[in-house]
Amino acid sequence: MGNFDQSHIEPLSFLVFSASLGKDSLNTELVRTAAHIIEENNGKADFANMNEFDCPSYNHDIELNGSFPAGAEEFRKRLLANDAFIISSPEYNGSMPGFLKNTIDWVSRYHPQPFNERNALLMSASPSMAGGKNALWSLRVPFEHLGARVFPDLFSLTQAHKAFTPERKIADPTLAKRFRDNIIAFMSLVESSKHYPCIKKAWVEFLGEKADPVTERVE
Ligand SMILES: Cc1cc2nc3c(=O)[nH]c(=O)nc-3n(C[C@H](O)[C@H](O)[C@H](O)COP(=O)(O)O)c2cc1C
Repeated sequence: MGNFDQSHIEPLSFLVFSASLGKDSLNTELVRTAAHIIEENNGKADFANMNEFDCPSYNHDIELNGSFPAGAEEFRKRLLANDAFIISSPEYNGSMPGFLKNTIDWVSRYHPQPFNERNALLMSASPSMAGGKNALWSLRVPFEHLGARVFPDLFSLTQAHKAFTPERKIADPTLAKRFRDNIIAFMSLVESSKHYPCIKKAWVEFLGEKADPVTERVE
């Protein structure tokens, strides 16, 4: 796949988010590589890490008081400010980290619900031989529930502690090309959905549920 030529249009912007709290995070390393590829292809990368979006445990009583944690507010703001988002998530015990799900739960409570209709690219990095792929399957569930359009191709970097060059690139040339091609394919999708929006507009939490204003969440 060649470069993504969008020199003739307004640059696309991507929230590029490492869902790790660690300072030497492998997922941060991977997402920085993604940000670099976006910028090489004339996109804008808005880098964030989990420390900016971390929230206290979701509590309905706090929400009823009308106060949202600063991390949820920041994540919502950055989702809305960008055309699409990319997350690189660690895998904890075969799933996403609890703090990430907690932040997603908080952000899902805003109206309008900010994940609806947003394109998402998911990736993971782990020292294991599976690369944290199960975290991504678990992440698809809340995002698809919330109306995000999750890109079908997931990228999980295996043995990530050995995968990078000192210049912070993926060392294996085949893997580096696959990683780059996947990001460029995602950029093309975001560009087309920005200019040819999907006809779907409403978000209904459970499409087939009996309509009842007491329980339903519809936007
Ligand atoms: C509680 C916990 C559970 C973990 N479970 C998994 C797992 O199921 N699969 C896996 O590949 N790695 C697992 N790991 C290892 C992480 O993938 C590894 O620590 C990774 O470097 C975390 O990402 P980060 O470097 O971006 O913080 C686990 C780590 C912790 C702390």
